[in-house]
Amino acid sequence: MGRLTGKTALITGGTTGIGLATARLFLQEGARVAIVGVDPERVASAAHMLGAGAIALCADVASKTAMEGVAARLKAEFGTLDVVFANAGIAQPMPFSDVDDGHIERQFDVNFKGVVYTIQAALPLLNNPASVVLTSTTMIDQGVAGMSVYAATKAAVRSLARTLSAELAPRGVRVNAISPGLIDTPIYGKLGLPAQAVQEWAGQLMAKVPAGRFGQAEEVARAVLFMASDDSLYMMGENLLFDGGMATV
Ligand SMILES: NC(=O)c1ccc[n+]([C@@H]2O[C@H](COP(=O)([O-])OP(=O)(O)OC[C@H]3O[C@@H](n4cnc5c(N)ncnc54)[C@H](OP(=O)(O)O)[C@@H]3O)[C@@H](O)[C@H]2O)c1
Repeated sequence: MGRLTGKTALITGGTTGIGLATARLFLQEGARVAIVGVDPERVASAAHMLGAGAIALCADVASKTAMEGVAARLKAEFGTLDVVFANAGIAQPMPFSDVDDGHIERQFDVNFKGVVYTIQAALPLLNNPASVVLTSTTMIDQGVAGMSVYAATKAAVRSLARTLSAELAPRGVRVNAISPGLIDTPIYGKLGLPAQAVQEWAGQLMAKVPAGRFGQAEEVARAVLFMASDDSLYMMGENLLFDGGMATV
């Protein structure tokens, strides 16, 4: 029997990287899984990779209406939800002096409002008990130049794990955050930087990682499985650093 047999899960940002690896693992562990992404081609590609056991939906997490639509579909397909992995996110490095309204709004819209709208839409479907896992970042625990707004969005996400745990514990919903470090995913190709600049930047950050390597999305997925499953029933409001020692050692 799998660790999520009989459970249902919603994973936002499930088309690539950490979310896709987690969707694969959840399916292997017996869950029925719905993923959400915003790029139609990547949603279709993920649907193909995950197969018939998964529902793949195209929706912008930054849209409250779109996430309500996702919830309506899941109510029809699953009835209820046991797990929400609010993982969709974008990262846009920028020198602090260049930060403007658009830069702030886009990242807060997806990374923070997207988590709020995901959980709000899912709330009426959540079982007792249910587990909500939020994706933050190790960059909330250390200063990384150029990441002022991104890190702030993810610090807000980490904070939500505490507040929502307090608010939702009475109805059996526990909320925790995971903070990955440098994980080898397509996100580095979406930073809006030339490939050479990304390589140099990643090289500089790697010098801060005692583990001496990038983490793999599948490794993060195993930690998320722990947080999603009843193995972590007594864990609440926590932030799990998963960063090869980057913020701690
Ligand atoms: N990789 C790392 O080193 C690292 C470290 C710390 C934290 N994180 C966080 O981990 C999470 C997953 O990132 P990843 O590394 O796996 O990157 P990724 O492969 O780029 O995955 C990001 C996912 O988020 C989805 N997404 C982005 N904007 C969205 C929107 N507006 N609505 C719905 N879905 C949206 C993407 O969907 P589309 O494919 O449709 O665009 C994709 O499925 C993010 O929150 C990221 O900030 C990553």
